[in-house]
Amino acid sequence: MDAPDHTNETDLLSFPYPDGWFVIATADELRPGAIITKPFMGKDVVLYRTNTGVLRAVGPYCPHLGAHLGDGKVEGEDIVCPYHKFAFAPDGRCVRTGCGDKPPQARLDSRHVRDWNGLIAVWQSAHGQPPEWELPEFDWSGYSAPIQGLRVLPGSVQNPSENGFDPAHLQHLHGWENGVSKLQKNEGHRLALTTSITLKGLPIRIDVELHGLGLMIVDVNLERAGIQAKFLVTPAQIAPLKWTYRESMKLHIAWLRKWPSWARKAAYALLAPAVYHLWYVRQLQQDIDIWEKRSFIRHPKPSATDAPLVAYRRWAMQFYSSGKTTGSDAAVRRSYIPEI
Ligand code: FES
Ligand SMILES: [Fe+2]
Repeated sequence: MDAPDHTNETDLLSFPYPDGWFVIATADELRPGAIITKPFMGKDVVLYRTNTGVLRAVGPYCPHLGAHLGDGKVEGEDIVCPYHKFAFAPDGRCVRTGCGDKPPQARLDSRHVRDWNGLIAVWQSAHGQPPEWELPEFDWSGYSAPIQGLRVLPGSVQNPSENGFDPAHLQHLHGWENGVSKLQKNEGHRLALTTSITLKGLPIRIDVELHGLGLMIVDVNLERAGIQAKFLVTPAQIAPLKWTYRESMKLHIAWLRKWPSWARKAAYALLAPAVYHLWYVRQLQQDIDIWEKRSFIRHPKPSATDAPLVAYRRWAMQFYSSGKTTGSDAAVRRSYIPEI
């Protein structure tokens, strides 16, 4: 799936790659013994799962002579390069060669990786720092099965999280009304906002919580109807102006709790796709139409209504450690980060 190519790259700001956890695959794609290659921040990441289920993420090139490990095989607990059959243990060490001679002191370039809610997240740090936080746990009891989506889009990974802190667009782009927003949390890698709003007279509460720039948890609550749609939105930058928008939606309907399990499942099987396709995808398409062509201008001109967005932009700066280093290249890259 390729990103549409109607952007004028020279008009678009290309950010440095941000630090944090980013989802690059689903767990379904990686059964025990499987190897897959995913683009991430301008490089390939090779994901594999050993036969006992250990998940690993490594750089793509074999330290022997540079063959692509994505074309290799999993043998037992090891990943084996296709070129000369050097084998690497889960800790990255070379433990065997194809010729049977002593393995060289070589190690794969490994990344921190997590199985998380049916998704696979990798840690990114421009300076090679270990993870500074973990992704949150959820209790999914009483929720529908997830509906997952994936789109490849042009532009910046900041689009969806910034949208969550731009309550004005809910009215002007999506046609919602009477929005009132309150910042709930601004602590380290977490930022949260609650917006109360009405849609065709129906009161709705939207809770948005960010965990870095790679996870956005959105709860859309129709309290009067006892309905909640919970979205895990997990964008990841895969190239300078190309990113993936992944989402996983689960529905919770309070009054279904008393129904027998088979009836609840049948109701969710009907209602969750309806909410996803008839409501959510239509709203998302309105956002995508903007995201595909917008630029992140360096000095935006916010109005008073944009206070949550100003807080978001200031908070988001912390993830661009690659723009904070010294040197002329870093200075150029820093100059691309929009400020307020
Ligand atoms: S390049 Fe990988 S074993 Fe030779
Ligand atoms: Fe939106």
